[in-house]
Amino acid sequence: MDWIRAELSAIEQAGLLRKRRLRENLKDFCSNDYLGLRNHPEVIKAAREALKEYGLGSGASQLVSGYTKLHKELEEALARFKGTPACVLFGSGYLANIGVIPVLAKEGDLILSDQLNHASLIDGCRLSKAEKIVFKHKDYEELRGILEKFRESYRNVLIVTDSVFSMEGDTADVKELYKISEEYDCLLYIDDAHGTGTLGRGRGILEKENLKWKERVILMGTLSKALGSYGAFVCAGEELIELIVNRARSLIFTTSLPPSLCAGALKAIKLIEENPNMISQLKERTRKVYNSLNKLPYEIRYYGTPIIPIIVGDERKTMEISSFLLKKSIFLQGIRYPAVPKGSARLRLTVSLRYEEEDIEELLNILNKV
Ligand SMILES: Cc1ncc(COP(=O)(O)O)c(C=O)c1O
Repeated sequence: MDWIRAELSAIEQAGLLRKRRLRENLKDFCSNDYLGLRNHPEVIKAAREALKEYGLGSGASQLVSGYTKLHKELEEALARFKGTPACVLFGSGYLANIGVIPVLAKEGDLILSDQLNHASLIDGCRLSKAEKIVFKHKDYEELRGILEKFRESYRNVLIVTDSVFSMEGDTADVKELYKISEEYDCLLYIDDAHGTGTLGRGRGILEKENLKWKERVILMGTLSKALGSYGAFVCAGEELIELIVNRARSLIFTTSLPPSLCAGALKAIKLIEENPNMISQLKERTRKVYNSLNKLPYEIRYYGTPIIPIIVGDERKTMEISSFLLKKSIFLQGIRYPAVPKGSARLRLTVSLRYEEEDIEELLNILNKV
């Protein structure tokens, strides 16, 4: 079994060894719970009631007996929230992406994928038998060039993008992608994991860009970020959702979400619909945090989303800073290759309504000392 030690030691020598940290007693500045809904009393109450009524696990796949009234209600709420005809739930964002992309693009098709797409999208592309081309991050001229050259040689072409790029915080130009997908007759798959609950009045990237859903658009999102729960969803036209239910292996061959998580997410959507000012508060707080961070001697990137990367560059140095912060009970995870390109290691700060002003001041003071 020497190979195991050798492999671990190679990872360590490259400064890339990862350890999980217990979050207990730490101030958490790196979760994706942007609106603080995972601890919201009404969300907890809804989940607790579902737990009492349905028990802990869902018991089976959606296609066997794991589909309850709560799953159905959540799908209907999400379809309404996102402005699409239909929706289907998945066990997680990772499962949604690896399950749906191979349904949309098969042998004889082409996938065009943004270079900075999330790993789960990359793995979904890898599982598909379609040809794949990665285009430079947000380089839509390059994307047009590829389509100009190759569109006619393929049956379906699927463009895949994050709405908010998870490690950078910038957003895709979805208006331009709408145009391109129409001009070249492509399907457009948008992973709105970090846009849901943070962009527009909370409905995500289409709302922010004033765009209406179109049949060629597949909108994926997660329940695990601003919605404070766990799980994911895919919103699209009715027939496509039916096809996904029949073909996506990561939906068919896995146990469905526990009903209590659906109940919590349902309540979270309701809270966002009723209090859109939560999103403006988040935006306001993000701007404030950025303005304060920007006084520090680091490269800070800011795109108006609650993901603010503090770029350090060197992998080892990034982890040293992260460890130093841990000693001060601050949890700000260092992000390294392969999550981001080599030499662009960073501390990925996420802004949340969960923090108090004093928490942010404390963080800034400590970062100043680093
Ligand atoms: C853009 C994006 N898509 C998908 C996922 C996967 O979602 P989940 O954590 O629910 O598996 C994540 C993060 O985890 C993400 O950042």
